Amino acid sequence: MDKEEWKQLLNEIYSCKRCPLHATKKNYVAGKGNPNAKILLIGEAPGREEDIQGEPFVGRAGKFLDVLLKETGLSLNEVYITNILKCRPPENRDPMENEIEACRPHLEKAISLIDPKVIAALGRHSMNFLFNKYNIAGGKISMLHGKAFPVDSIKGRKYIVALYHPAVALYNPQMKDLLKKDFSVLKDIRNSYNI
Ligand code: URA
Repeated sequence: MDKEEWKQLLNEIYSCKRCPLHATKKNYVAGKGNPNAKILLIGEAPGREEDIQGEPFVGRAGKFLDVLLKETGLSLNEVYITNILKCRPPENRDPMENEIEACRPHLEKAISLIDPKVIAALGRHSMNFLFNKYNIAGGKISMLHGKAFPVDSIKGRKYIVALYHPAVALYNPQMKDLLKKDFSVLKDIRNSYNI
C-alpha cells in the first residue's frame, strides 16, 4: 500500500463533487478499518448515522455488522469497510445508476490500492457492482449469497463473495442465522487459502 496514494484518494473523496449528493450530505463517508487488510467489505451507501458521524456502518445495521464480524472472529484491523457511495442518498433511497457511476473511480482506486484477497459485497447493489467488474454471471442474491467466486487477475487470485446486507436481519430476525453462516465463509476462505 502506497501511503501517499492512499492519502490522495482520501483527499479526492473529501473534495468530490462528481454527483449531486455532495450538496445534500453532511459528511463524506470514506471507509474504516485497515487499508492493508486482506478482506474488503463493500456496503451500499451511508445512512443517517453514517452521514452524521462520517463513518460507515455505525447505525443499527452497523451494530449488527459488528456482531457478525465478532462472531466470525474478525477484528476491524483484519478488514476494510466501505460503501459504493461515499455520500448519503436523501431519505436512504437506493443508489441511482448515475451516482454509482460517478462514485465508481473512488471504489476502483480503493480496490486497486488495498488489493484485497477477498471482496465481500454487502447487499445486491454491491454484488451487482462486483459481479460486473469481475465478469461473474449475475443473478438473484438469494441464489448467490454465501458462495465464494474465484477470479484471477494479474495481481493473483481473489475471491468474491455476495452476502446479504446486515440491515435485512433488522426486519427479519430469521435472516440473522443465515447471515452468521454466510459470514463464516470469509473465515473459511482465509483459513483454506492461508490468506
Ligand atoms: N448501510 C450501508 O450500506 N452502509 C453503511 O455505511 C450503513 C448502512
